Amino acid sequence: MLIVPPIKSQGIKTKLVEWINVNTQRIEYDRWVEPFMGTGVVAFNIKPKKALLCDNNPHLINFYKAIQRKEITSGIVKHFLTEEGQKLLDTNGDHYYIVRDRFNEKGNPLDFLFLSRSCFNGMMRFNKKGGFNVPFCRKPNRFAQALITKISNQVKMISQIIELGDYEFKEQDFKQTLSELKSSDFVYADPPYIGRHVDYFDSWSEEEEKFLHKGLVGSGSKFILSTWLSNKYRTNDYVFSVWKDCYVATKEHFYYVGAKESNRNAVYEAILSNIELKDSITNFEMKSRINNDISQLTTKRRIHIVPKQMALKLEEKTVVNNLHGL
Ligand SMILES: C[S@@+](CC[C@H](N)C(=O)[O-])C[C@H]1O[C@@H](n2cnc3c(N)ncnc32)[C@H](O)[C@@H]1O
Repeated sequence: MLIVPPIKSQGIKTKLVEWINVNTQRIEYDRWVEPFMGTGVVAFNIKPKKALLCDNNPHLINFYKAIQRKEITSGIVKHFLTEEGQKLLDTNGDHYYIVRDRFNEKGNPLDFLFLSRSCFNGMMRFNKKGGFNVPFCRKPNRFAQALITKISNQVKMISQIIELGDYEFKEQDFKQTLSELKSSDFVYADPPYIGRHVDYFDSWSEEEEKFLHKGLVGSGSKFILSTWLSNKYRTNDYVFSVWKDCYVATKEHFYYVGAKESNRNAVYEAILSNIELKDSITNFEMKSRINNDISQLTTKRRIHIVPKQMALKLEEKTVVNNLHGL
């Protein structure tokens, strides 16, 4: 059963969880480390005995720390969302902005959860001053009983996982996390894509990508990193420059069928590693596949057919990503 965290984010790797699990199951390590934990979906599904989970976004870390300290429980969440959800309904949605202002002033983790579950498209975005700035999803009845139950069950599940393991959550820059690595650690790194998000907690440069590579290799720990390999428009050249000493495994993140044959698009997600994985090939072999126009896919093809409207939306998104350097 897939564990779904209560916090939403556009960078969430729910779709990669099973793949990462299959590829890391047989690897031995003392501690699972994530320098970019985000929502934590990967760690919470892998359920390592011991983990160091870090992010530079204090709100994510505070949220999970509050669960760990039992300041946030499923009961507290249920009560909170019922009350705040009623205010949202009574004010025809205006209460969202009251909570957003309150959160930007005080940073309460329950307010963070409220915003994450009632903002537009479950996005997580912060302005230049670090303020949450995603607008309301425009559904005043957002916190219907069924959703509140779902979220409080998600909180319950996560608190059980945290309680069973020896987990440490830290708000810190990835450079600090790299400096704390031991060779017996296993690292799952999921950095932002270069140039893609320019957000207070989520921007990323070539220099940082190189620093990350050097730090991971230098730590002597085994690691995997998730990134993208290619789409219809571009190939991620960093895979073959910065990460050229790594094995590569790929998966089709989306393969959707639009209205026309020409709308068929594949986006290849990649995991890079300093160890050979179940699905991986060498970097050199991947490069030669690309040069010789041979399939870049190292796993079984899975076709997701989506309705025309959604296919067009995805097409649009790919074009935008392309413009932003993805
Ligand atoms: C792609 S997301 C990770 C998503 C996560 N794997 C998940 O499934 O939810 C990247 C994360 O890196 C964090 N981040 C960005 N720059 C960072 C930095 N310099 N140090 C530490 N974390 C950083 C962001 O706050 C964001 O949560």
